[in-house]
Amino acid sequence: ASGPAPLTEEEPNLANNADALAMDAHYVQHPHEVEAELRKEAPARLMVTPRGMRMWLITRYSDVKEVLVNPLVCKDEAQRAELLSERHEATSGLRSPEFRLIEAHMLNTDPPGHTRLRKLVAKAFTTRAVVRLRPRIESLTEELLDGMADRDDVDLVADFAAPLPITVICELLGVPENDRDKFGDWARTIVSSVGDQRLADAAGHFRAYLADLVTRKRADPSADMLSDLIAVTDGGDQLSEDELVAMASLLVIAGHDTTVNLIANGTLNLLRAPEQLAALRADPGLVPAAVEELLRYEGPVHLGTARFTTGPISVGGVEIPAGEFLAVSLASANRDPERFEDPDRVDIARQTAGHLAFGHGIHHCLGAPLARLEGTIAIGRLIDRFPRLRLAADPETLTWRFSTLMRGLEKLPVSTR
Ligand code: HEM
Repeated sequence: ASGPAPLTEEEPNLANNADALAMDAHYVQHPHEVEAELRKEAPARLMVTPRGMRMWLITRYSDVKEVLVNPLVCKDEAQRAELLSERHEATSGLRSPEFRLIEAHMLNTDPPGHTRLRKLVAKAFTTRAVVRLRPRIESLTEELLDGMADRDDVDLVADFAAPLPITVICELLGVPENDRDKFGDWARTIVSSVGDQRLADAAGHFRAYLADLVTRKRADPSADMLSDLIAVTDGGDQLSEDELVAMASLLVIAGHDTTVNLIANGTLNLLRAPEQLAALRADPGLVPAAVEELLRYEGPVHLGTARFTTGPISVGGVEIPAGEFLAVSLASANRDPERFEDPDRVDIARQTAGHLAFGHGIHHCLGAPLARLEGTIAIGRLIDRFPRLRLAADPETLTWRFSTLMRGLEKLPVSTR
């Protein structure tokens, strides 16, 4: 299995991990069971990832929400290195300079830098920018569904869920048709590999390509978000060249795998709940509500991206010292029976407001309206187009991709007829 850590590179941390929980295959295949126990017994539990990074896993809804707005919980790892300079070596040795540059985006930034970036970017990430993508998402969805009709061996991940979001992001950024294959290849390499030469090469090409695209859009703007991001101003402030490249990368990194998993996890869980699927087919107006419930039930981002403490904090009665990494389980929060009744059941009629699938606090997903639009069109059209859609594998045999962040399937075999 491949594909760890798409949004943050994980680094070895040599601290004392003696009785930590292992983030192992059992956890990855059965996270909801493991986390249900932790919510009861150990709401902040020391965990070690396969590459030896230690993190505190936080599992209760109320704690997760609190941690995500705690001013002592930060993201910029340069700040952490400074904080711990006496105890830790610099941890960035595994990253190429290009990778570090494309990683210098708002999701890895704390206030006041984050506040400034988010304000500028929000001016371009408007409802209008999302809505203008609708016709393209619809036609692309139909094309992909055409390709799945009359076939026995459909993999819903490769044949439907994966191609849609990367093409939508290319549309969003205004990447010309001819460049999309290579752009998609670099993007997939960047989101799916860790610290090796392939990653460094892809990051180099990706960065050079985006820098060139920015130059071209500056000279010849068009109706896309990159042109809008270039033009955005706030009291004389603008995004720099490097900030534009980092932001464009973030849109690719944050908007790709996530949406793939929304479509695939969502379809799996609907097919496993036939009475819910029947209710949805009877009233297609319920699709947007169903998408929210599917996000709550098994969202694409299992753990939020890594954070660390800049001072001691207390979580569910557990004292966590300064300089520790936190893995905030959005998925566990969304299955907390203290917050959602009968949480392990898909119920498209339930009140889902307050679910944390898009995070919480200042880093709350900027792309949520686009993700919802894509999810609603993709899942809505899929079930409408294929009334006989069913799983072509025992759900217990499906493999979840190994990731310290995402929740997504390797494959989802379905039959459309
Ligand atoms: C941030 C989830 C799709 C752009 C986040 C975060 C989550 C998330 C949980 C916060 C991470 C954290 O705090 O650690 C999702 C899910 C998606 C999705 C579940 C699909 C179903 C998208 C799309 C885009 C996007 C399509 C844009 C094309 C962003 C950006 C941030 C972000 C820019 C960073 C915001 C900030 O740092 O202020 N997303 N996302 N996301 N997402 Fe999404």
